[in-house]
Amino acid sequence: MSERLDIDVLTIFPEVVRAPLSESILGRASDEGTVGIRIHDLRDWTTDKYRKVDDEPYGGGPGMVMKPDPFFAAVRDLQKEKTSVVLMTPQGRQFDQEMAREFSVSSKHLIILCGHYEGIDHRVVQGLVDQEVSIGDYVLTNGALAAAVFIDSIVRLIPGVLGDERSPIEESFSVEDGILEAPCYTRPADFEGMKVPEVLLSGHHEKIKEWKRNIAVERTLENRPDLMP
Ligand code: ADE
Repeated sequence: MSERLDIDVLTIFPEVVRAPLSESILGRASDEGTVGIRIHDLRDWTTDKYRKVDDEPYGGGPGMVMKPDPFFAAVRDLQKEKTSVVLMTPQGRQFDQEMAREFSVSSKHLIILCGHYEGIDHRVVQGLVDQEVSIGDYVLTNGALAAAVFIDSIVRLIPGVLGDERSPIEESFSVEDGILEAPCYTRPADFEGMKVPEVLLSGHHEKIKEWKRNIAVERTLENRPDLMP
């Protein structure tokens, strides 16, 4: 396991990344030094007086393309010995829990590049990027939101970040065979006539385990049949 994970994010929307990561569990992990997250404004690496980060596409077409030079300058400044550079893009490899686990176990320093407009000059991908990552088959207005999702899912898997060490193992996609979780309940046992299943009140651990397993299979067949082993 990596002892400490350092993350540098390059975006033209620093606040979009900062807000979700400064709350609650992730904010605490940052304060305690388990993870060091630095969010940079890509415009700080521009050299013209307009701080221009985009330009028209060669070959024509709609929209603007992000220029390569600010990305190259920024990565050269921030790079360390064991840096991995990740580009958030809908063209990337589809992110999932297994990838989150790999990143949380093996990363020491991540530089995350967030795209915007119609895309990024492809020389950024060729010359800087180790992995292109997509958070799903839909297109966001910019990669900053995707970066926040990516970072959250990785950081919470670092030992000690979540209070209860067991919780990342028992949740959906992380149970032994990767199916969905069983539903959970808390007090009151009867809420407006909707009752907590009897078995959960029984204290019978074997029966509870069997119930959870059956209902998890049922839920997975209904919502995510693609996850069934
Ligand atoms: N930027 C825009 N859409 C994205 C997606 N689905 N994943 C990662 N980055 C993106």
